[in-house]
Amino acid sequence: MSVLEINDVTAGYGDAAILRGVSATVNSGELVTVIGPNGSGKSTLMKTVLGLLTPTDGQILFENESIVGNSPETIVRKGISYVPQSSNVFPSLTIRENLEMGAFLRQGDSGPRISEILDLFPDLHGKQKETAGRLSGGQRQMLALARALMLDPNLLLLDEPTAGLAPMMIDSVFERVKEINDSGIAIMLVEQNAKDALSISDRAYVLAAGQNQLEGKGEELLHDPEVARLYLGG
Ligand SMILES: Nc1ncnc2c1ncn2[C@@H]1O[C@H](COP(=O)(O)OP(=O)(O)OP(=O)(O)O)[C@@H](O)[C@H]1O
Ligand SMILES: [Mg+2]
Repeated sequence: MSVLEINDVTAGYGDAAILRGVSATVNSGELVTVIGPNGSGKSTLMKTVLGLLTPTDGQILFENESIVGNSPETIVRKGISYVPQSSNVFPSLTIRENLEMGAFLRQGDSGPRISEILDLFPDLHGKQKETAGRLSGGQRQMLALARALMLDPNLLLLDEPTAGLAPMMIDSVFERVKEINDSGIAIMLVEQNAKDALSISDRAYVLAAGQNQLEGKGEELLHDPEVARLYLGG
């Protein structure tokens, strides 16, 4: 069963169509990666799914219902969490406050959920009162992931969670992403670290200039000579 179905979507900023007929699917429980050159429309695709941009053409279905025209708040409430490419934590708030903000659409006490989430992120556990702005880049990405989980989403959209991180931190973010996916949450992941991302993905899409270029199983694309030449550094 598909969690997310993007059919032939055209979208952009003002009159400029950036995505031109893009299609992609995330099935229940899948980890799906989107790779592609800078400016190919990867972030635009995520913003369109979340309702920050409205497609001028095409369909987006979440759990078999159209979400086109829904506000981001409605879409988040339906079960899609989004970690944007930048500014994904509130630097002046503490870790705990960031998690509370992540739960703002949640009914009732967020305390128990915060404890549950912090068990998954041992690095953050002892630092609840620390200001997020003082965290390392990697810890901030962990916090952004943790915050996105506060609403118990069925689909997680992650826009380059390893960007700018040291190699060791990159590995731990990928491990965490894999764990989250193994817990049953479907994930659409945009990544520059294509090799690592493809090796943990069920399936992947390659976008170029706002259009679908290639798709396949993560393993297959990892060993595709063209993908290797263009995106995996030879
Ligand atoms: N707010 C905006 N207003 C106008 N054009 C934008 C805006 N954001 C992005 N664009 C343009 O849309 C195109 C696609 O950008 P997008 O951010 O989706 O690419 P991307 O694949 O995520 O790139 P990167 O790998 O650099 O993150 C680019 O040409 C970009 O300049
Ligand atoms: Mg981007």
